Amino acid sequence: MTRPTEAAVLTVSGAGAVDAEVDAVVIGVHRDGEQLSLGPGAAAVDTALGGRLLDVLARLGANGVTGEVVKVATLGATTAPVVAAVGLGPVEPKPGSPDPHENYRRAAGAAIRALTGTDRVGLALVDSDPSLTRPVLEGATLGAYDFVGYKSELPPSYRPPVRELVLLADATGRGEIELQGETDRVKAVTDAVRLARNWINTPPNDLRPPAFAAQAAEAAADAGLEVDVLDTDALRAGGYGGILAVGLGSEAGPQLVRIAYTPAEYDKHVALVGKGITFDTGGISIKPAQNMQDMKSDMSGAACVVAAMTAIARLQPAVKVTAYVPMAENMPSGSAYRPGDVVTMYGGTKVEVLNTDAEGRMILADAIARAVEDEPDYLLETSTLTGGQVVSLGERISGLMGSTELLARLKDAGARTGEPMWPMPLPDEVRSGMDSAIADVTQINAGFDRAGHMLQGGSFLSRFVPDEVQWAHIDIAGPSYNTKTPHGYTPKGATGVPLRTLIETVEDIAHNG
Ligand code: BES
Ligand code: MN
Ligand code: ZN
Repeated sequence: MTRPTEAAVLTVSGAGAVDAEVDAVVIGVHRDGEQLSLGPGAAAVDTALGGRLLDVLARLGANGVTGEVVKVATLGATTAPVVAAVGLGPVEPKPGSPDPHENYRRAAGAAIRALTGTDRVGLALVDSDPSLTRPVLEGATLGAYDFVGYKSELPPSYRPPVRELVLLADATGRGEIELQGETDRVKAVTDAVRLARNWINTPPNDLRPPAFAAQAAEAAADAGLEVDVLDTDALRAGGYGGILAVGLGSEAGPQLVRIAYTPAEYDKHVALVGKGITFDTGGISIKPAQNMQDMKSDMSGAACVVAAMTAIARLQPAVKVTAYVPMAENMPSGSAYRPGDVVTMYGGTKVEVLNTDAEGRMILADAIARAVEDEPDYLLETSTLTGGQVVSLGERISGLMGSTELLARLKDAGARTGEPMWPMPLPDEVRSGMDSAIADVTQINAGFDRAGHMLQGGSFLSRFVPDEVQWAHIDIAGPSYNTKTPHGYTPKGATGVPLRTLIETVEDIAHNG
């Protein structure tokens, strides 16, 4: 990107909502039935306003529903000229509503987006519940994001994201030193999400496989990680047939990036694999033109895996983590792979290609087979693999396939991070539907049946994972890229899903094996 917007600065202040030296303060407001009530940070502001805060908010149309933001000019009653009241919904969340931490994460993100153009914002949206500090900081930081690096000139109407977020320690009841630890942690995670989002949003002509591999290697090396890159020649020498086949149609040759994090002490080894198709035209089985531009996001899995490694390097969990990231551009050309080809994959499996648009599983199978050689205990693979994921689970819930226990852990981790995921089966009939008449396996259903379309992707990949490795496939086709309007802490375009869940799961394994 030519001119990336800087990450918001995170600081801690001993001040409270009334005396903080900032340009705006975020407080919370609840709604139960018809009743609006004061939420975190609001009591002090109410007192400063002579007990009129709820009346003022009601007159401005505040409902207190989750994510609503109403701004009040305090006209000297508080040091900050503006108070932004963000809705948090009922005091006691209804059963079935998102995890309470996610409610606060979204509210903080919505408030920070509504305050775009404001320089320094104080966060009083944390009362004495210490577990709220992290989600509030995280949501606020993730909400302070935009991607405008390709505009020759910013229009006069442009307002930059909030530049500095000040955690108002007075509201937390915790010391500044303790809170510094929380901000460092949030910084490690949100910097990684920003890095992934920027890569995903970058136009595909500026991030073809060699450039992406070089940038990934640089980011990993800067984080102090061990990196090696197999370029196209090395892939040929190594027999990576799946990655090579997909890359044949492009002049920008395919790559495989390996990044290793090895702590001094560890018990388990986790492999991370991410799909890095820098642009997916479909190849010879070409896609329709409408919305094809969104296929620049077909490297979301790769971006999240590489960026997660940079966060892991900062967080230093006691678990070995190795990333395997295949990168290719899926183009139609005179040299492209074609339907009918039989490709010998890394490890020798022979795959009959039926649709060149099912390219993700071709590059992933090679990367998985390579990962397995390093004998991981767990293998987490994530990819924008199928349109079927969006059909079955929608745009915000990722599809999980793989080892039952690990899927349950990922589902729980996703609920905690606000990246919802749902376990799906891998039935025998889907597997046998991919029996090839001439080779070991077809790449999609042999009869072009689209039934259980997402499951076909997972089923194909499962063939490359040995029984002793606990594995999960996370299909993020919908959740990785927001084609609609922003919501909560989620901007338009790249979201960063499932990066925070990868980190959460790696840390879960570090702690619990
Ligand atoms: N990258 C796409 C999947 C995708 C679709 C991601 C929509 C994000 C949004 C993938 O490579 C693909 O083309 N999948 C095909 C598979 C089919 C040919 C078996 C699909 O989903 O139709
Ligand atoms: Mn495709
Ligand atoms: Zn694809």
